[in-house]
Amino acid sequence: MCGIAGYVGHRNAAEVLIDCLKRLEYRGYDSVGIGVIGKKLSVFKDVGEIKDVREKLPEMHGNIGIGHTRWATHGKVSRENAHPHLSCDGKIALVHNGIIENFKTLKEELENKGHKFLSETDSEVIVHLIEEEYDGKIEEAVISAIKKIKGSYAIVVISQNEPEKIIAARKGSPLIIGVGDNENFVASDIPAFLKYTNRVIYLNDGEVCVIENNNVKVADDGGKEVLKEEKMVDWDIEDAEKSGYQHFMLKEIHEQPSTIYNALMGRVSEIEPDINLEDLESNIDEITIVACGTSFYAGMVGKYIIEKLASIPVFVELSSEYQYFGRKSGTVIAVTQSGETADTIGAIKEAKKYGCNTIAITNVAGSSITRMVDLSISTRCGPEIGVAATKTFTSQIAILFLIALKLGIKNSHLSNEELQRYVSSLRRLPLYLENVLEKEDEIIEIAKKLKDRKSIFFIGRGANYPLALEGALKLKEVSYIHAEGFAAGELKHGPFALLDEDTPVIAIVAKDSVHDKMLSNIGEIKARNAMVIAIADESDEEIDKYADYVIRFPSLPEFVSSIPIAVILQLLAYHVANLRGCSIDKPRNLAKSVTVE
Ligand code: G6P
Repeated sequence: MCGIAGYVGHRNAAEVLIDCLKRLEYRGYDSVGIGVIGKKLSVFKDVGEIKDVREKLPEMHGNIGIGHTRWATHGKVSRENAHPHLSCDGKIALVHNGIIENFKTLKEELENKGHKFLSETDSEVIVHLIEEEYDGKIEEAVISAIKKIKGSYAIVVISQNEPEKIIAARKGSPLIIGVGDNENFVASDIPAFLKYTNRVIYLNDGEVCVIENNNVKVADDGGKEVLKEEKMVDWDIEDAEKSGYQHFMLKEIHEQPSTIYNALMGRVSEIEPDINLEDLESNIDEITIVACGTSFYAGMVGKYIIEKLASIPVFVELSSEYQYFGRKSGTVIAVTQSGETADTIGAIKEAKKYGCNTIAITNVAGSSITRMVDLSISTRCGPEIGVAATKTFTSQIAILFLIALKLGIKNSHLSNEELQRYVSSLRRLPLYLENVLEKEDEIIEIAKKLKDRKSIFFIGRGANYPLALEGALKLKEVSYIHAEGFAAGELKHGPFALLDEDTPVIAIVAKDSVHDKMLSNIGEIKARNAMVIAIADESDEEIDKYADYVIRFPSLPEFVSSIPIAVILQLLAYHVANLRGCSIDKPRNLAKSVTVE
């Protein structure tokens, strides 16, 4: 996730763009760049947050320009990889948000035609493609270029030869136009330009737009003009940064169809029977996962998936324990959203001392952990602002899933058919997640039944056991209700002593080999008069006879359903906390990243 912006009008473009980008910093902040056309096109870009880059910014004169704040996905955090990217002749500049799946093939073709690349990014291929197609009309070149790219993009382009217009196009990544008087804006999100105008035009996927200071013309990808309606936005700036959501946590929960799409993009294909996961080696025969908090539970889900699909033993250890007591051999995978958690950094230091192969699954490129490990794999979620992790949790599971598939196919534990079955349901996950998010009203009704309870249990079996632990953690973090997760079979070994009619139990019930066992566990709970809320497969016809309330998740292959289940648990925790009026984005006593041991 990156933030992009464009401006054409009567003001100093560089100043307006820096201002717009500041409002988009929640989308990424590892490097910044702007390109402005004055007498000619000039670009300034650097590594760092906007406030730092701004101080180094030279005088840039001109009333038209584009800008970008980056969150690295392809290529490390560096000046070269920052946007805008330029064509070989330096006359076309482009900023991009999204992921180009076929960039390797396109890059090779363009290099054969003599194009010189300066960055490691997938984005740079687009500007060279546009240059290749350019024949005097920049919008036509953009339309021809986007026909050749596969993946997701929001792009904003300017050309020194046509200094009065900006071209913008989107597919799968957001882009909104801000309509002003004698000036126009384009950006990834409304807060970017809300200070200047509240009149907006929403671009749809496949649309291409020519923006001049007093004209906005939108066409479909065939070049046919589309008439667009201008809308008024009545948010204030603070609301707008949350895109109208009451809290960042809720916004981040709702981002999951696109963050899961990003995590998978370019890494799974329905054509090739392989997983393309950076340079992950396939000769791994023993894994230890180290992590804390929510990331630890993602690691536990990963254990079930890797052991089943790749038949490789996986040990999951809390980082704070591992560094002193853990087994230091084989491959050690650190799962850490921030890449800065002191306990996890300590665990990786120890693992390295013993010569282990080290991998990090993290959301922050350039974070401390990425500089320590042999390989780092990005979850590509964009910044997560809410202290309680949501979108990064599901993307961590998605990456561990890909590791399992990659290793399973390499050691022949998994057949090509099984791989394809998993790949095709993973690719459909964003759509399934949209359906789950539509259940929000139903979940609010359940949240009302939970909001005044003193204690709530969560139970599950198999990969749903760590989800029960995460469901309980999420609830206690944001609502301050005491919550505990259990492996369903364990209730009878102690926790039943605490169970009474005032303790609701959330039971995660899949249609798997332990379905009957879950039903009998629910029967035992009902016998103690406790309320049971089941999170169950939509094809489960028996569950209604056992549970008091049922929230359904889509029928999906084993483990793929972990992600929609996690989203339901997150919504439940959020709405309970919201009904209780809690400080959701900044729970008391908690920090997003804990950099002390
Ligand atoms: C803190 C946060 C948790 C997070 C944990 C691990 O405790 O409050 O939400 O799960 O750190 O963070 P990491 O960045 O390593 O995933």
